[in-house]
Amino acid sequence: MNNPRKTFFSKRTILFFTCLLIIFIIIQFIRPEIKNPPVTGDLQAPAEVKTILKQACYDCHSNETQLRWFDQISPLNWRVAQHIKEGRKVLNFSEWGNLAAGDQKAKLWEAVNQIQEGAMPLKDYEMVHTSAKISANQLTTLKNYLLGTVKPSVYNDTSKINAADKQYKKWQDNQLSPDNLPVALNGITYIPDYKNWQPLSTSERFDNNTMRIIFGNDIAVKAVKNNNIHPWPNGTIFAKVAWAQIVDKDSTIHTGAFLQVEYMIKDDKKYASTGGWGFARFKTPKMVPYGKTALFANECMNCHRPMKNEDFVFTLPIKH
Ligand code: HEC
Ligand code: HEC
Repeated sequence: MNNPRKTFFSKRTILFFTCLLIIFIIIQFIRPEIKNPPVTGDLQAPAEVKTILKQACYDCHSNETQLRWFDQISPLNWRVAQHIKEGRKVLNFSEWGNLAAGDQKAKLWEAVNQIQEGAMPLKDYEMVHTSAKISANQLTTLKNYLLGTVKPSVYNDTSKINAADKQYKKWQDNQLSPDNLPVALNGITYIPDYKNWQPLSTSERFDNNTMRIIFGNDIAVKAVKNNNIHPWPNGTIFAKVAWAQIVDKDSTIHTGAFLQVEYMIKDDKKYASTGGWGFARFKTPKMVPYGKTALFANECMNCHRPMKNEDFVFTLPIKH
C-alpha cells in the first residue's frame, strides 16, 4: 500500500517549498523604487560612441535606466538598485554637461581605462545582459573618440622648447630645500631622491599629450629581480613623473612643462585602508600637494582597483 511518491516528496519537503514560495511572493512587494530623474545634460558624442555607452553603461550610469523583467524580481532588484545608486553617484552621463571640460576628459579616460582592465561593465551584470559586453573594436572606437577630443600641441617656435629644456635642467638639479619639503594631507612627505632611482617603465597617455616615467626605489628594483611582486614588499616606492609633451616642427618629441610627481609607498599596515599603499601627488615645479582632504587617496584607489590581482600596480616591470 506504500505510495512511492509519498516517500519521494515528504510532507516536510512540500511544506518547505511552499514556505519558500510564500516568502518569494511576499518579498516581491518589498521592492526598491528605481526612478529615472530628468536628463539635464546628456553626453554629446558621435552616434557610434553613444550607442556603445548606452548599451553597456547607461543602465547604471545615466538617468535612462532600462530595467529588463529579470531586473525587477526581488531579491535581485535590491542589488540592481544599489548598483544604479552607486553608479550614478560616481559617473552620470545624463548630467555630463554639468561637469567642467577637464573633468569630462578625466572621467572619459577613466571610463576607457575601466573597460580596458575588464572592471566595467560589472561582471555579474554582463553575464545576464550579454549585449553590454564591449568588443575590442568598440574599445578602439571609444579610444579614437577620446583621442579626437584633444588637440596635439605642436610648437613651431623654439622659445617654448628652450623654456621647457631649462625647466627640465632645474628639475634635475632639484630646487627644494631639504628641511622644508611639502607634505601631502595624508602625511606623506615629498621624496626628492626619486630622480636617482631606476626607471621601471615609461608610458604615454594618449589622450592628453603627456610623457610619464615610472621610477622604483632599491626595494622595488630588488623585488623585480627576485620576481617578488605579488604582493610588492613593504618599503617599495614608485614615483611616476609627468611632463607635458611637445612636438616640434620636425616631429621630434620633447618634454614640456613639468606637471607632477606621484608616489605609491607600500606599507600593508600603515596604509591598510588603501590596499596597503600610501598615495601622494605633488603638482607643478613648486610641488603643491594635491587634494582637498586626506580622502583624495580614495580617488587614486578607485582607478587603481581594477589592478587588484597585480597588487594595485599598473606597471608590469620589464624583466631584467
Ligand atoms: C550594473 C551596473 C553598472 C554598469 C552596467 C556599469 N557600471 Fe560603472 N560602476 C558601477 C558601480 C556600482 C560603480 C561604483 C563602485 C565601483 O567602483 O565598483 C561604478 C564605477 C565606475 C567608474 C568609476 C567612477 C569613479 O570616479 O570612481 C567608472 C569610470 C565606470 N564605472 C565606468 C563604466 C563604464 C564605462 C561602463 C560601461 C562600459 C560601466 N561603468 C558600466 C556600476 C556599473
Ligand atoms: C584615472 C585613473 C587613475 C587615477 C585617478 C590615478 N591613477 Fe595612478 N596610474 C594610473 C595608470 C593607468 C597608471 C599606469 C601608468 C600610466 O599609464 O601612466 C598609474 C600608475 C601610477 C603609479 C606608478 C605605479 C603603477 O601603478 O604603475 C603611481 C605611483 C601612481 N599611479 C600614483 C597615483 C596617485 C598618487 C594617485 C592619486 C593622487 C593616482 N595614481 C590616481 C591611473 C590612475
